[in-house]
Amino acid sequence: MRFPKVRLIVIAIPIALVLLAIRFPYMIDVPVWKYLDRGRIDPLTLHLRGEFVESNLGTAELNDGSVLVRMIAQQYVFVPQCVVVPAGVPVHIRMVSADVAHALTVEGTTDSVKVVPGAVIQQNLQFDQPGEYAMPCHEFCGAGHYAMRARLRVVPRDQFHHLRPDERVTCEAR
Ligand code: CUA
Repeated sequence: MRFPKVRLIVIAIPIALVLLAIRFPYMIDVPVWKYLDRGRIDPLTLHLRGEFVESNLGTAELNDGSVLVRMIAQQYVFVPQCVVVPAGVPVHIRMVSADVAHALTVEGTTDSVKVVPGAVIQQNLQFDQPGEYAMPCHEFCGAGHYAMRARLRVVPRDQFHHLRPDERVTCEAR
């Protein structure tokens, strides 16, 4: 009677693993998964690990003088709400959506960064005029769409270098 029991376990375990992989793919963290998943991102775990955890959002300086801005779009906010960048340098936006399609636009320009869930969008922009700009969502994304907006503060390049970390994440008047 021992043999059928062992066989049952041998069959049941792989089936359980396959079902788990289908239902909770992000729980199975094996290298091959990352390989197959390159360029894809799970909206459900955005905030928890990887490139788009909260501490990684906002503006980061790169060695060549350009900046990288990481943002999350979600119903009905952009995170962070305020983006501070230096004027006259390339701004590499990397954005993901936590739910549906959104489009970040910059008032007074034709710039638009459209994002859909599941993919990281990278787009290069540049702002030559210091100032404050509204960044409304321009893709209908639900009841709160018309109130969904972030702000962009473009500061002169040399001034940007003197901003403290906490001053790089605020659009408040000072
Ligand atoms: Cu987000 Cu409209």
